[in-house]
Amino acid sequence: MAKIIWKGSALLGPVPPALVTCGTMDEPNVLTIAWTGIVCTHPAMTYISVRPSRHSYEMIRKTGEFVINLPTSSMGRTVDFCGMKSGAKVDKIQKCKLGLCEGSEVSAPVLADCPVSLECRVTQEMPLGSHTMFLAQIVAVQVEDRFVDSKGKLNLQQAGLLAYAHGEYFALGRKCGEFGFSVRKKKKPIKSDKKPK
Ligand SMILES: Cc1cc2nc3c(=O)[nH]c(=O)nc-3n(C[C@H](O)[C@H](O)[C@H](O)COP(=O)(O)O)c2cc1C
Repeated sequence: MAKIIWKGSALLGPVPPALVTCGTMDEPNVLTIAWTGIVCTHPAMTYISVRPSRHSYEMIRKTGEFVINLPTSSMGRTVDFCGMKSGAKVDKIQKCKLGLCEGSEVSAPVLADCPVSLECRVTQEMPLGSHTMFLAQIVAVQVEDRFVDSKGKLNLQQAGLLAYAHGEYFALGRKCGEFGFSVRKKKKPIKSDKKPK
């Protein structure tokens, strides 16, 4: 298969087009962030990379807190809008009719309509070029209870999370495996001592 070589660029995808909330319940803002991910399991650490020109940038610097809310595919228009308009000019929370809940550990608000919200506290700020990375500890997670099964396992298959890849939005599709399924031993059939009649 022939490959074309391009210069290095930010082509990793799909990524979550997260709705990141910042500020406080009284003075909230929300922006769309695609440059995010997990960088450590214990302690649970994440990052968001934000251009200093964003209205949210100074808000996050001021409080040292933000919330990463994972949107569903039905929220695609809201996600795009919050990534097109600045909170410096538009009250995006009001315009998109976004419901807010209190954070349990941070003063930044949590979006009521997102099934998963990660409450984050900034530990380090790193200017990288176009974007500044906020490295942060995930200090609490809010999960919509209907996606947690009776064994306490998070099951987001029905949540219909939104994905973003190379400038386009996608609804997450069919489940095609789970962690460790490639090496899991098949359950042996239970042997019985009794001879079949
Ligand atoms: C899909 C999508 C992903 C985006 N990802 C980022 C990002 O990772 N970092 C960033 O600084 N801006 C990103 N933006 C742009 C900001 O969300 C946008 O400039 C927003 O208006 C900033 O809002 P604010 O001025 O209220 O902070 C993205 C926009 C879209 C539509």
